[in-house]
Amino acid sequence: MHIVQTTAAVSKTAAYRQLHEHLSALFVGERDGLANTANMAALLYEALPNLNWAGFYFLRGRELVLGPFQGRVACVRIALGKGVCGTAAERRETIVVPDVHAFPGHIACDAASRSEIVIPLLQNGRLLGVLDLDSPQLARFDDEDRAGLVGAVDLLLPHTDFARIADGVFA
Ligand code: SME
Repeated sequence: MHIVQTTAAVSKTAAYRQLHEHLSALFVGERDGLANTANMAALLYEALPNLNWAGFYFLRGRELVLGPFQGRVACVRIALGKGVCGTAAERRETIVVPDVHAFPGHIACDAASRSEIVIPLLQNGRLLGVLDLDSPQLARFDDEDRAGLVGAVDLLLPHTDFARIADGVFA
């Protein structure tokens, strides 16, 4: 698959539309949670500019455990309520952090990260984990990124079986 990276010449709206088309094509006929999240991390990292990390953490018991990602080696376990990932998971809310240095408790896996977005994965009301994207650019993620990435997660969830990779129960 040839991925065109977003440039100023391509509007963000158009870039996310194309990203959603690529994701839909990847998920057709494939329900494996590991395969789908691995390909999604690769596609996000390749298609979106100014990222230094894109990937997943899955809920195991009451902690998040590192899943498929692109970028530098990352922290493996994050307790619910800790860092941006654990906070988004506990609150079951998307969190956009324009400046990670201003987020109390931010976990710095890569000192180059300056902004971050974390989207919880919720399937039929059950918390499965989070999608996390980091950028070396301040305030990299705006409302269009939030909508585009929530839309991407909405494409993943109904098509994907997480039974063997996320076994946490957190009501
Ligand atoms: N910064 C995250 C930790 C995960 S890494 O960014 C990959 C956090 O504060 O939860």
